[in-house]
Amino acid sequence: MRTQVGIIGAGPAGLLLSQLLHINGIESVILEKQSREYCEARIRAGVLEGGTVELLHEAQVADRMEKQKLLHGGIEIAFDGKYRYIDFVDLTGKDLTIWGQTQIVRDLNKARAEAGANLVFEAEDVAIHDYESDSPRITYTKDGEPLEVQCDFIAGCDGYHGVSRASIPQDQISSFERVYPFGWLGILVENPPVSDELIYAHSERGYALFSMRSPTLSRLYIQCNADENPDDWPDERIYEELRLRGGERVAADLVEAPSIEKSLAPLRSFVAEPLRHGNLFLAGDAAHIVPPTGAKGLNLAAADVRILYRALVAYYKSSRTDLLDAYSETCLRRIWNAQRFSWWMTSMLHTFPDSTPYERRLQISEIDYVTNSRAASLALAENYVGLPFD
Ligand code: APR
Ligand code: PHB
Repeated sequence: MRTQVGIIGAGPAGLLLSQLLHINGIESVILEKQSREYCEARIRAGVLEGGTVELLHEAQVADRMEKQKLLHGGIEIAFDGKYRYIDFVDLTGKDLTIWGQTQIVRDLNKARAEAGANLVFEAEDVAIHDYESDSPRITYTKDGEPLEVQCDFIAGCDGYHGVSRASIPQDQISSFERVYPFGWLGILVENPPVSDELIYAHSERGYALFSMRSPTLSRLYIQCNADENPDDWPDERIYEELRLRGGERVAADLVEAPSIEKSLAPLRSFVAEPLRHGNLFLAGDAAHIVPPTGAKGLNLAAADVRILYRALVAYYKSSRTDLLDAYSETCLRRIWNAQRFSWWMTSMLHTFPDSTPYERRLQISEIDYVTNSRAASLALAENYVGLPFD
């Protein structure tokens, strides 16, 4: 089979890229390891920057989002018995959209299927070949049959554990990494959110986050050891920690409902440079990971896709190669900004096992400053709502 762009991975990055290329008359094939049902059941991020919302409109998959989204004007930070609101609309003039990645993936799959896209689920043994040449290939197995896709470009959108980045010789790629000494244990519950806005809570016992997916669906997280077994955390134990960490108001308002999903995610910061290797382009989690504090993962994947699809359109419509040549550098600037912000939010709000009493006091003082000074709040706000492009 021959196509213009061979895409590996049907997460938000791969699907969005394929859809935007299709709208611009460029053909692609997506090869995905898992089943469609599996991909559509994964519970992931849910906070969208304005730029990501615009891209979903450009991709013509915004109808359901526009009807069901929640708009958020800021976040609350709970610490030391206090609750402080950082008003993003007042500080930056911008708000955020709450709309789950799970829903985005469902809408993208539907749009791609309706357009007759070549989307291969349960593709096994995906391998990339000759990506440094003008005729790259992707081989895979489907229902036991060996198959091949020939293309002009390969987009590696197959996440952190994918095959694309792993196929690049180690001496041609630089990795930068920080692993945090904790994870997030998250539950999804059919219950109204405890507050209208997200609450990021810092406490001696560890961090907690009170988030949501809809007016009737809450997403709650607590910091825990990265090697914990979620089975050791019955709902009552999680709720007890949420009450202790969230402060008095949250403890009084939090209503317990059974979890409908429970999972533990380790926290990691990671960047692989460069993002381009010949005619192979890495995008999204395949190239970078951020800890979830600050909700940058999905937004960053969307930002890569925005740059990549425009560069591919410029190549096919105007024979321009300059945007493809600039892809890695353009993306990396935004990626490192998001790395810095996510690392900073994580460091400020979590409890580190080895911090000294002096460092603990500094941490409280920093949260106090960030939530009290307009200049410091603005620095948080402009990063959270998403820095401008270009
Ligand atoms: N072959 C084919 N597909 C693969 C392979 C492989 N060898 N390895 C992984 N995949 C698929 C995964 O099953 C997944 O569906 O690639 C897809 C990658 O999707 P994501 O991990 O969601 O990554 P991305 O599309 O870059 O989206 C980034 O998702 O993980 C969150 O927090 C992250 O919000 C961010 C966003
Ligand atoms: C979420 O709702 O899953 C969420 C929200 C904000 C974050 C991280 C995760 O910073």
